Parts: sequence; structure tokens; C-alpha cells
Amino acid sequence: MNLIFLGPPGAGKGTQAQRIMRDYGVSQISTGDMLRSHIRQDTDLGRIAAQYINDGNLVPDEVIVEMINKELKYSDTDTGYLLDGFPRTLGQATTLDKMLAEQDDYIDAVLILDVPTQELVKRLSGRRVCQKTGKSFHLEYNPPTEADGVNMEDLIQREDDKEETVLRRLKIYDNETKPLIDYYKKKKIAFKIDGTGKLVDVYNRIKTILNSIHKTKNLKAN
Ligand code: AP5
Repeated sequence: MNLIFLGPPGAGKGTQAQRIMRDYGVSQISTGDMLRSHIRQDTDLGRIAAQYINDGNLVPDEVIVEMINKELKYSDTDTGYLLDGFPRTLGQATTLDKMLAEQDDYIDAVLILDVPTQELVKRLSGRRVCQKTGKSFHLEYNPPTEADGVNMEDLIQREDDKEETVLRRLKIYDNETKPLIDYYKKKKIAFKIDGTGKLVDVYNRIKTILNSIHKTKNLKAN
């Protein structure tokens, strides 16, 4: 099953991706995580990306497309994948379509997490990330439990989660990424999901959609 996760910054894509990977065996391909890993390793790509990410701007399409192209070609995606944070512009979406057509591959569903702006700002201002594991938490809504084995002093705020940068990211989402909703609606693979409420309730809504896709695919295969 190949999926795209669409939704504004702070909608819960990364959080829910963990659960989808665990239950459906798909690989998460997160462009944000990949870029941050390049920044940590101080690669050429990381140095370019940092200038954009820390200011809350999008990294140029050509940089992203090259990175994702390599990932789709060389990583183990036999059991399917979840594209988290890609595509984010119409240019990236049309390029993805071409890349998939060349590989005789396709996207089964685009999951669109819908959360009001006020809630997004609350979620992002309280988000803390573990510098050791990269796992994301929320000080109030999703604090680490004992099972997470995380030390509170390892939790840091992402540079782009500062309030001014968050507002810029939300504006860019509206201008550049939101048009993709119509793009995928026309392809009849878009599923809008209410992203508010408890983590488990949001996940149950996602599961309802994924289970119906799973069933249809199995029926097709039979
Ligand atoms: P990226 O890392 O992809 O950031 P994003 O899309 O802005 O998404 P976030 O990680 O901020 O939010 P999320 O939806 O994953 O929310 P989360 O689950 O953490 O990209 C960062 C940057 O990289 C971009 O700004 C850009 O510069 C660059 N980039 C990446 N991809 C690119 C591309 N394709 N093209 C160009 N540039 C690109 O949840 C947020 C918080 O809310 C957490 O604290 C969580 O615990 C909490 N939470 C989650 N669900 C709930 C809930 N139901 N109730 C209460 N709290 C909740």
C-alpha cells in the first residue's frame, strides 16, 4: 500500500505515521526527517536545506526531488510506503507522478489531516523532540511515558517551531501545499480526516480508511 500524508505543519502526520508503520508494515519516507538528518551530518545538502528550514521556507523542488528519487529507487519499499511531507508543491506532485509511472508504481491513497490553525499553533509550540531518538512529543498532549525511555533534558524545541516561523510555515502551506488537495481529489484518491481529538481517535479514523483500501486491494488481487 503506497500512501501520501498531507496536512499542515503540526497536523500530526509524523505522530500517526509511527502507528501506520507499526500496523501496516509500510516504510515512512519523511522529507523533513531526511533533511534534518542531512543537517545533523553537515552534508552539502544539509547546509543548503538549513537555510530554508530554519526560516520556515520550503527547500527548492529540485533538491527535494533528487533526494526522494534516490530514496524510492534504493530503499526497501516492497511492502509499501508512506510519503510524509512530500509532495508539497504542484511541481513536486507532477514530478512524483512521472517518477511513479516510470517505475510502474502508483499511490493508493492521499490522507489529508484537517486541524484548525489555532490548534496547530498550540501543538507546535508545545512540541519537543528527543535529540537522541528523534521521537516527537508534546509537553501537554503527548508527554513521554516511562516506556519511551526518554530523558526530559534530551527534549529540545525545533528551530522552526518558534512562533514567528510557525506562522510563516502555515502561510506557505496555504499557498503552496493546499492546492494539492484538489489535485488529488480530481484523481479520486483523496481522503480528508478530522485530525482533532485524542491521538487514538484520529488513528481510528485513519484505520477505517486504510482497512477499506486493504480490502479492495486484496479483492483486486484475488
Ligand atoms: P516537516 O518536518 O515535514 O514538517 P511539517 O510538514 O511542517 O510537519 P511537522 O513535522 O511540523 O508536523 P506533523 O504533522 O508531522 O506533526 P507532529 O506529528 O509532529 O518539514 C520541515 C521543513 O522541511 C519544512 O518546513 C521545509 O522547510 C522542509 N521540507 C520538508 N519536506 C519538504 C518538501 N517536500 N519540499 C520542500 N521543503 C520541505 O505533531 C505535532 C505536535 O502535535 C506534536 O507535539 C504531537 O505530539 C502533537 N499532536 C499530534 N497529534 C495530536 C493530537 N491528536 N492531539 C494533540 N496533540 C497532537
